[in-house]
Amino acid sequence: MSEPLRIAVVPGDGIGPEVVEVTVPLVERALALEGRTLAVTELDWGSDRYLREGAAMPADAAELLRHHDAVLFGAVGRPDVPSHVAVWGLILALRQSLDLYVNLRPVTSWPGIDGPLRDGGSVDFVVVRENTEGEYSGAGGRVHVGTPDEVAVEIALHSRRGIERVARYAFELARSRRGLVSLATKSNASKYGYVLWDEVVAEVARDYPDVTWEAVFVDAMAARMIERPRSLDVLLCGNLFGDILSDLGAPLQGGLGMAPSANLRPAGGAPGIFEPVHGSAPDIAGRGVANPCGCILSAALLLRECECPSAASVLERAVALAVADERARTPDLGGAGTTRTLAGAVAEALTGVTA
Ligand code: NAD
Ligand code: IPM
Ligand code: MN
Repeated sequence: MSEPLRIAVVPGDGIGPEVVEVTVPLVERALALEGRTLAVTELDWGSDRYLREGAAMPADAAELLRHHDAVLFGAVGRPDVPSHVAVWGLILALRQSLDLYVNLRPVTSWPGIDGPLRDGGSVDFVVVRENTEGEYSGAGGRVHVGTPDEVAVEIALHSRRGIERVARYAFELARSRRGLVSLATKSNASKYGYVLWDEVVAEVARDYPDVTWEAVFVDAMAARMIERPRSLDVLLCGNLFGDILSDLGAPLQGGLGMAPSANLRPAGGAPGIFEPVHGSAPDIAGRGVANPCGCILSAALLLRECECPSAASVLERAVALAVADERARTPDLGGAGTTRTLAGAVAEALTGVTA
């Protein structure tokens, strides 16, 4: 029998623990179908720990995670902790310290789930978001604090190396899909950073003559995602635009509760962190009604990255079957189900699905 798959699990805050708790047993069951087992290290990192100990995670968190094949992450954020403190103390610090430079966010529709913007047809594109720099560099500062002269500077950092490596990932991915990369920048208003993006992506594109590519301004891209989402295959963008466009893509797939993501280091040397696109949703936390599918589908991405492709496909097909049944759906999908009943429907579907 092969080695167990070693995953670290960080449930985090709000609905994070609610969606993670029902996801882990599903991963276990999907793996069992191919004779693999799961070894879980559960970590209590998050805002409770921050309030208790002054830090959301230990100083050697990244090193600890490196001993795992992958990380399943719930969400971070609590109304009584400043948002920037909460996210920089956990997920943003981990993305940077593990150098997880690709944030992969598939936008896929599901049979029977009608997004408000869809005409019944299917949607299938992928957002490839730069994940360690840009507007999320963390560089900047404030002076004359609390006075009328106060100034804040937030430095967007775009490096040739950072752009090139994420662009190569996007072109490789397009090669395995429908062969189109659409780059979203703002190189008309931005005079430096996004101009460099356009130049470096054009250079990378020369190595991929079989892939078509285009540069689209991000404002026009926002409209196109709604008007012609099927014209997209791989949507490449910087960190902040990728954050916003991936939430814009969520309604196309049935809402934020359905959207998965993967933080990856394709060059190797660090485990990926797999997390739903949504946050801690304080407005519904504690009620047991969060849609777990974004987390379950993130776990499917985890399985695929960890070279368990049949377990990944089985889990995705089980989600498709579960949400197709109106009785199982959570309120965000228009149903009266709960996190547990929807996860239960996925578990039931798993037993009937074969790889
Ligand atoms: P959010 O994604 O938490 O919630 C936005 C809306 O979507 C809410 O109405 C919420 O109820 C709904 N929603 C989200 N996930 C859902 C699910 N699985 N099922 C059903 N409904 C769902 O975004 P927000 O309200 O802007 O942020 C709340 C907190 O989460 C903040 O502290 C923010 O900083 C944090 N946040 C964390 C992450 C992360 O951990 N990766 C991502 C986004 C936001
Ligand atoms: C996401 C989140 C994060 C981001 C927050 C929590 C910093 O919104 O994963 O989309 O902006 O990347
Ligand atoms: Mn976001």
